[in-house]
Amino acid sequence: MAHPLQVLFIGESGTEAISAELEQGGYEPSFGHVRTEAQLQGALSGKWDIAICDFAVDDFGAIEALRVIREKGVDLPLIVVSGKIKDSEVLAALKAGAADHLTRGNLMRLNAAVEREIHAAKMRRDRIHLEEQFRQAQKMEAVGRLAGGVAHDFNNLLTVITGYSDMLLASRDLKPAHRTALEEIRRSAERGGALTHQLLAFSRRQPLEARTVRINDLVLQIEKLLHRLIGEDIELVTIPAASEDAVEADPGRLEQVIMNLAVNARDAMPGGGKLAIETGTIHLDESFSAKRFGIQPGYYVTISITDSGIGMDEETQSHLFEPFFTTKHPGRGTGLGLATAYGIIRQSGGAIGIFSELGKGTTARIYLPLAQAKAPTAREKSAGQGPLTGAETILVVEDEARVRKLMVDVLTGRGYTVLEATRGQEAIRMAKGHKGEIDLAVVDVVMPEMSGPDLIKQIAPNRPHMRVLYTSGYTEEAMVHHGIPESGIAFLQKPFLPDALAQMVRDVLDARSNSAKDRS
Ligand SMILES: Nc1ncnc2c1ncn2[C@@H]1O[C@H](COP(=O)(O)OP(=O)(O)OP(=O)(O)O)[C@@H](O)[C@H]1O
Ligand SMILES: [Mg+2]
Repeated sequence: MAHPLQVLFIGESGTEAISAELEQGGYEPSFGHVRTEAQLQGALSGKWDIAICDFAVDDFGAIEALRVIREKGVDLPLIVVSGKIKDSEVLAALKAGAADHLTRGNLMRLNAAVEREIHAAKMRRDRIHLEEQFRQAQKMEAVGRLAGGVAHDFNNLLTVITGYSDMLLASRDLKPAHRTALEEIRRSAERGGALTHQLLAFSRRQPLEARTVRINDLVLQIEKLLHRLIGEDIELVTIPAASEDAVEADPGRLEQVIMNLAVNARDAMPGGGKLAIETGTIHLDESFSAKRFGIQPGYYVTISITDSGIGMDEETQSHLFEPFFTTKHPGRGTGLGLATAYGIIRQSGGAIGIFSELGKGTTARIYLPLAQAKAPTAREKSAGQGPLTGAETILVVEDEARVRKLMVDVLTGRGYTVLEATRGQEAIRMAKGHKGEIDLAVVDVVMPEMSGPDLIKQIAPNRPHMRVLYTSGYTEEAMVHHGIPESGIAFLQKPFLPDALAQMVRDVLDARSNSAKDRS
């Protein structure tokens, strides 16, 4: 099969011989022909595979052509094909950047030279593309860290605001006007909490509750929701994969990702159109997976969301995953949809690719590692309906003073004896010095000096009956996946409400007494 080849010919001579030689080499050349600098300038915005140039055309020749190409910043290999010229002239052309020189009388090497130069140009493009992706990944990492840090501090503040609002709201002798004001404060803090959650999702610092999810089931479930979401002007098509493949993911989060992508698709089709959701399984090999997405080669389940909407230009595509990047009117979009999706999918060990063409439409494709087949495990639900009070002793370790005070207030208010420490060493001393039982340690995961898990490693050996409840607004991916063993240790995410804390504390303590009963 002949390979199409776009050749830009610069010069006065005919192209018959060159064309014939290229056809011999298995190419199907089509020529553009320019003779002057101005013509070349204009032609360079086109798409060419290779330039072939006479050595001299009056005062505009190969050397000048190479200069124009260089100044335009176009990567176009140029081969000089001339009559008999001096060695010094050949050298001058090569020095100016010509890829090769051939004489008209002997075009035998032409095909080899063209093939070599096209290959080299492709390698250059690939490398630039890779570098670009690397830079992009680094930028995302930095923005993510920043967003995660801000969200972490915000979570602490919001925990205090919602916590004390709730405590005040619980009191009976509150003036109606004050109650209304407090409720408004409480609602705003809650909205703030929702926003920080999105930021944490983007910076991959939220805990995921992963389990085995059959992807077709999930998509079919979402389909119902989507119908309502996208309205009647858009036709929704689902194309489920033939297989029953599954992934290890947090179904709630995954749903959120698909919804975000579907809402984007809807917004891209204001006059109606078609939205297709397709699932499948593919194998990503070394070059594709590593180069494009920085993920491990292997089998991946895909969920593709394709719209027939307005598409995006390259500029928009290069900013897609940045938080707060939006082209929508204020109030219509916050620019967190794709940033959130990106964080959740990366945290799940996958990747998102967005393929778009202006005016034609967009495909957003999620890649998630294929799970080993096994039945979904039902999550244990705690009974959790008993009174939220108790008389046990609880060690609270939290570096953020206001959050700590809130926790102590909540727990002492419910009858518990509370030991209070601001960080690791202090907690160790306190645990050593305390004569009686410590039933539960409520410990922040991320603290200066010593992390929560490290602290527990130090005190747990001397206190075999002590239960642990970790709290954090800033859960490192590593901890969620590797650091905390699945059983026996509970986790509460900030910001939390006083009732949620009391409930969790009670659950953890009761789980202990139940298992003690089981053993006896
Ligand atoms: N399917 C699509 N078709 C065309 N443009 C898109 C599509 N998906 C995303 N975009 C572009 O990417 C931008 C960022 O998308 P993203 O979902 O992150 O934020 P948003 O939709 O603007 O706001 P939010 O999702 O927070 O409500 C959009 O404003 C839009 O310009
Ligand atoms: Mg969006």
